[in-house]
Amino acid sequence: MNINMNPNSELVQSAVNVPNLVQVPEALIHQAREFQEAIMMYTCAIREVKTKLEVLNDELSVRNQRNPIEMIKSRVKKPSSIVGKLQRRGLPVTLESMIDNLDDVAGIRVICSFVDDIYAVADMLVRQDDITVIAVKDYIKNPKPNGYRSYHMIIEIPVFFSDRKKSMRVEVQIRTIAMDFWASLDHQLKYKKDIGAAADEISEELRRCADVIASTDQKMLSIRRNIEAQGGMVRK
Ligand code: GTP
Ligand code: MG
Repeated sequence: MNINMNPNSELVQSAVNVPNLVQVPEALIHQAREFQEAIMMYTCAIREVKTKLEVLNDELSVRNQRNPIEMIKSRVKKPSSIVGKLQRRGLPVTLESMIDNLDDVAGIRVICSFVDDIYAVADMLVRQDDITVIAVKDYIKNPKPNGYRSYHMIIEIPVFFSDRKKSMRVEVQIRTIAMDFWASLDHQLKYKKDIGAAADEISEELRRCADVIASTDQKMLSIRRNIEAQGGMVRK
């Protein structure tokens, strides 16, 4: 974060009479505390959204005898990634800039069993009256050119603290197990820099894999629907 290195700023000494002790400017300590507090708020927002998703999953699993949600993962963006993203976008590297400009400091990934579960979970979540939808990107209906599929939402949720209510933004990515499998491997492969001349061919193969995965997702959904349609019948 943008640290005020004003030479006149008061210095804080954590012990007296210790030679060569590193002195930390008070402004730095203050900024570190503010940053820590902001991260705590994002962590609480994640917890609230996660609880809402768990409640929906519990209710639906009792009603429908199966879980629409396989897994929920979450993370607060690392300070180095926050700084990197602000720098890449040419934005000031300050706490205010992070809060104003970054929508994905708090991130939740919901892994669903079937494609229709994604839309059902998203719909049930945003219908709750304390949730405001800021943006939606449907990369399932409109996959990225590389084949990436997922349903993204930026939502805002109020979090109640001791003396105030804060509206916190959370990025929610919802995808099937198969889409998550592809995205995880795609992410891993992006760290391999030495593919050189083969890059185009590899990208094409990855995109083909994404298409195969999407058609498997569709087949699994139709198998499930077929089984459900047989539901009333008794096997001989
Ligand atoms: P970011 O700067 O990455 O946040 O992009 P954006 O603000 O345009 O948002 P977008 O909704 O496109 O992507 C946000 C997140 O989705 C990323 O941080 C990744 O977690 C995930 N994502 C998007 N595209 C890809 C992709 O091609 N491969 C993988 N593995 N993940 C992706
Ligand atoms: Mg992002």
